[in-house]
This record gives sequence, structure tokens and C-alpha cells, in this order.
Amino acid sequence: MKKTKDLFVEIDGLKIYYDDAGTSLIPIIFIHGFPFDKSSWRPQMQFFQKTHRVIAFDIRGFGKSNTTIEKDSINIYAEDLIKLMDALHIEKAIVCGLSMGGYVLLNAVHNHPDRFDAIVLSDTKCEADSDEAKTMRLESIEAIKNGSLQAFVDGFAKKVFCQNTLDNSPKLVENIIKLMLSTPQNTLISSLLALAERAEACVSLGNINVPTLIICGQEDAITPPIHANYLHENIKNSKLHFIESAGHLSNLEQSKQFNALIERFIANKPSLVPTPLYGNEFVRIPPVFEK
Ligand code: MLT
Repeated sequence: MKKTKDLFVEIDGLKIYYDDAGTSLIPIIFIHGFPFDKSSWRPQMQFFQKTHRVIAFDIRGFGKSNTTIEKDSINIYAEDLIKLMDALHIEKAIVCGLSMGGYVLLNAVHNHPDRFDAIVLSDTKCEADSDEAKTMRLESIEAIKNGSLQAFVDGFAKKVFCQNTLDNSPKLVENIIKLMLSTPQNTLISSLLALAERAEACVSLGNINVPTLIICGQEDAITPPIHANYLHENIKNSKLHFIESAGHLSNLEQSKQFNALIERFIANKPSLVPTPLYGNEFVRIPPVFEK
């Protein structure tokens, strides 16, 4: 496994950047939410690289990955995940998606069920946007086009964190605001449209046949616990955990608990425990999301 700091694969002529650290036969792949990038998985990459192979990638247009002028869709993002796995010769993986990453994951599991050993659905839902939500996305697009990016980002930051994080983790809030502001405007617009136009994924929950862990911040205001309950009720043998003092970004707000839940989920299913490949070097990911 080649490891440098700036790894990328070419998918449909695009450079898709990813981090790849640690070793094991079954990798864990992380898919970020909107409008973030792979760096939003740093606490998970740091923790799991000690015992597993972990991969986080920038969805097209986000982070360092480039994009085309074609219309984005959740389906395209999901096909990119499978193409990334193909390019890295990964037949099956444990995959964790947060929010939009969860929408991408549900789509990919539906179309490529054999590529997943287990899934973690975090702060996400299967429902499509309501008409009201679609209208709000279109208003956000207009605001961004009219130069109100900072107001959009500030408003979004207030919604993604719980009050405790807003009050007590200023550095985390600041870093997330910076990350959102660094996302190209074209990407914000095309992914907002992709979110607004995504199909619902609820009808196919009953077909999910892999171990599934559902995690949700107890104070998630964007995909509130009711959605996690619905996923749990409709995915056979799924496990559901709420994290206290966490909003929508539960992996960052309560990273220790988030990591411990995934660690326990994997450990309780011996067939999922990744087998280490000895002799490879580990890449150390520097901490950025200090509290
Ligand atoms: C996300 O965190 O990915 C977005 O908030 C998802 C959404 O707005 O539906």
C-alpha cells in the first residue's frame, strides 16, 4: 500500500484525494457530510489507524478533489465511492457515512450490496427533502450566489453543533467554519442541488443485510433522533446509539464516544475484525480539530 500525504486516484478524469493509514485486510472507509471534507474524520483516522486500515476521501468538488461542470447527484457520489474502492482494489469494506455521507452510503449499499462488510450510519436519514427543505436549499443557493456565503456558513454552524459545543469548544466551531468557507462556491451550489433532488432511500432499508450501526447526536437538529429511530426500526438487527452532548457532528463533538461505539460494534462481530497486515508503515494524521 503506497502511503504519502497527498494520495489521489483518477476517477472519470477527476482527481479524488484520500487519506489511507494503518493496516488490515478489511478497511474502514469514512464518507464526510456537507459541506465538509475528509479532514472532518481526523479523530477517527487517528484513533483507528492504530488497529485498522482507515480511509477517508474528499467527495468530488470538496477538499482537494476536483469536479466537472456536470450536475452532481448523490448517485454520482455513491458511484465514486465504488470506483474508489475498485481503484484501491478493495472488494469489501466497513463504511461509515455521516449525514450526506450517509445518503451516499445508503445509495451505494442499495446498488452494490456485495461491496459492504458492515455499515455505520451516523446523523443521517433515508427520507428525501420535503418541499419546504427544497425551498430552503434554493434560498441558500441564491444567498451564496448573492455574496452571503459568510451568513450561510455562520447559520449552518449554529445548526450543526449542540449548545454545549457552541459554548465550550470554540476552536472546533472555528475550525469547522473555516472548513466550510474553504469549500468552493460551485461545489456548495451543486451539492445543495444534489441534496435537494436526492431520491428517498427508505423503501430499500428492508434489503440491507449487513451488520449496521446507527449513531445519532441526541441534540442533532439537522437529522434529529426520530430519523435514527426510523432507520433502526427498518434495518434488520441494526444497533442504535444516541450520543449525549452532541449535535449533528457527533464524530467531532464527542469523538471518544463515537470511536468507542464503532470499536465495540466491530469487536462484537468477529467476522468484521480486520486482520492486520504486518510490516507496513503507519501514516500519522496530525490533529486539527482540537477542542
Ligand atoms: C450534512 O451534514 O451532510 C447536511 O447537513 C445534510 C443535509 O443538509 O441534508
